[in-house]
Amino acid sequence: MQAAVFDLDGVVTDTAKFHFQAWSKLAKEEFNLDLPASFETNLKGISRTESLEAILKFGDLLDKYSKEEVQNLANKKNDYYVEAISKLTKEDILPGISKLLTDLKANGVKLAVASASKNAPFILEKLGLAHVFDAVADPAKVKAGKPAPDIFLAGAKAVGVAPNQCVGVEDAVAGVSAIKAADMVAVAVGDKNELRQADCVVPTTRNFTYQLFSDVFDRYHK
Ligand code: G6P
Ligand code: MG
Repeated sequence: MQAAVFDLDGVVTDTAKFHFQAWSKLAKEEFNLDLPASFETNLKGISRTESLEAILKFGDLLDKYSKEEVQNLANKKNDYYVEAISKLTKEDILPGISKLLTDLKANGVKLAVASASKNAPFILEKLGLAHVFDAVADPAKVKAGKPAPDIFLAGAKAVGVAPNQCVGVEDAVAGVSAIKAADMVAVAVGDKNELRQADCVVPTTRNFTYQLFSDVFDRYHK
């Protein structure tokens, strides 16, 4: 294992709940639509515009808004979201992650971020992790979002490591598909059944250790 390529939302910090709160607020205010709690999973790992499209589809509203209106709605959601994440501090790093990053680094493993979020650099800054990662792949520069492999491949490339020497880390179904499509070993946190495409699934980030990553990589890499 020469690099670990991390998703951010739901892996390094629990921003998934802020995304969902912001979307729920927007859906209620703009469409008088209540998003069921189960909808949170559908929005993990997919881009801002794709998330909005999924919500519009759910409300049977897909054809009712112009491209420009969709853009404005997406911007509005982002304003709500940015307000929430402005309050993040290093206390919001998920359990086990700081030690994992330190141990990976100590073992010479490069660290990259492969998030679909355009807010990733801001979040890393807030968490005090901006200088811990060797590279942050820019989602604006890749052709296709998750489940396509592009953002994970960009993360590997940014740290100069071949994809088959990387472990990808995810909490989303679309993200695990992206890791596997990139020919990386996939370690995931969350529901075992939902994320069964991953090479290893653990219930919480507390279970993430350098040893686990190393063992899973040795067992499954191509
Ligand atoms: C992550 C989250 C998604 C979010 C996407 C875009 O992948 O899991 O829920 O839609 O980033 O985030 P952004 O901050 O650019 O709206
Ligand atoms: Mg995620």
